[in-house]
Amino acid sequence: MKSNEPQLEPAIIVIFGITGDLSKRYLLPSLYHLIKDGLLDDKTEIVGVTRGTTTASELLDSTELCGEVDNHTCDPDALEKMRSHTTMFQMDLTEASDYTKLHTMLDEMETRIGVCMNRLYYLSIPPQVYMPVIRLMGKAGLNTSCQHGEAMTRLLVEKPFGFNLQSARELIKETGEVFGEEQIFRIDHYLAKETVQNILTFRFKNPIFENLWNSKYISGITISAHEKIGIEGRGTFYEPLGALRDFIQSHLMQVLAIVTMDKPEIFDSEHIHKAKQELMQKIEAVPGDKVVTRALRGQYNGYRDEVKNADSITETYAAVTVYIDNERWQKVPIRLSTGKALSERKTEITVSFDGETGEKVNHLRFRIQPNEGIELDLLTKKPGFSDELQTTIMDFSYANDFASHGHPDAYERVLVDAVRGDHTLFATDEEVLASWRVLQPVVNEWSKNGSDLVFYKPGTTEPHRSSEA
Ligand code: BG6
Repeated sequence: MKSNEPQLEPAIIVIFGITGDLSKRYLLPSLYHLIKDGLLDDKTEIVGVTRGTTTASELLDSTELCGEVDNHTCDPDALEKMRSHTTMFQMDLTEASDYTKLHTMLDEMETRIGVCMNRLYYLSIPPQVYMPVIRLMGKAGLNTSCQHGEAMTRLLVEKPFGFNLQSARELIKETGEVFGEEQIFRIDHYLAKETVQNILTFRFKNPIFENLWNSKYISGITISAHEKIGIEGRGTFYEPLGALRDFIQSHLMQVLAIVTMDKPEIFDSEHIHKAKQELMQKIEAVPGDKVVTRALRGQYNGYRDEVKNADSITETYAAVTVYIDNERWQKVPIRLSTGKALSERKTEITVSFDGETGEKVNHLRFRIQPNEGIELDLLTKKPGFSDELQTTIMDFSYANDFASHGHPDAYERVLVDAVRGDHTLFATDEEVLASWRVLQPVVNEWSKNGSDLVFYKPGTTEPHRSSEA
């Protein structure tokens, strides 16, 4: 995180599921880095909710807090600080009285510290239990502010937000009965990636591109997020989801909105969300009878053994082509794809310029990860691209080659913005629903049977339809 960020207000950060995979891989290392960089107020407390008896020291000792960027060596002072500000709270998430005990414990903590603090509840638990947990939080008054004075209580939830359009609607409605929309932070860590934020800067601070950013010049967009890793032992989480729900419905639809939305009137959270929502409402739902040609799903060999389900039809690769029904994007195909156990880790957006059929095209490429940057492959010269313009684009691409940070600071951004109450990089209820509406026909078709599932070898560049293989 940048050291020029102002320090945050004191907060109590309560992590439900603190011993889980997400917490150990992302949250705890991010909190460590925020402490080390002096961003968290000294009064900030971390409360780890767990079923088990793990102590704070055991948890921190068994977590890789300092990655490659620190040569795997933690700063002893920062580590000690983190240890002394982390308290474990053992509770049964199905037991109403335990939520009341948690409330009492937080009040006592605040009384001891002597200031009214913002409270942040981070649900790092299986999405299937969000609703019962949120209801019990409401019953125990955990949705209210601190005891004396004004401080905000916020809820952070991880995707998936629902498993389909219907369940997303129910989740949003029921959560809304306990927490107000301004208290809810729906995390999409792709929005918090610096390279994704740079797309907005690139598009809207360069009028040259804005003028070319439409179907007259752009013939297609692809957004792909390919991973080399498989499911890494996360079978219980992944098996009910698959690639469409895990990645496309959230991360890639959000990135799509950033790439294609109109310029917000003002660059603040409210107007950025307004522009995104307007765009997302114009994305056509994939027609049910076109799913077979516009979508493709695959599963890597060996997946079924990993999840111990010989009949699993969960896709570990998914691709969908969508269209936006507005003036700017008429007939421009936008292909989203993601997969696990592919040949390399690569997330990038390719914008293809040129409309004529059969002609070679020029590609503008945003490399999200790794080797972050923006590059232009000029294969042909399109009328309308003057020599001067070509040079400008090339120069810009060099000027924008971002350095790789090497550690996952997207979660640091998420935590900082949530403590501050800045909603810009979080998904709104309307965005979540718009995304499900587009993909629901694919969910419906794919739930019928697995006849079109393509099996691929781990390490494949990208699976193709059996007929194309
Ligand atoms: C998560 C998905 O949201 O993003 C994982 O649930 C995926 O399946 C991960 O591996 C990828 O994130 P990143 O930042 O490593 O690209």
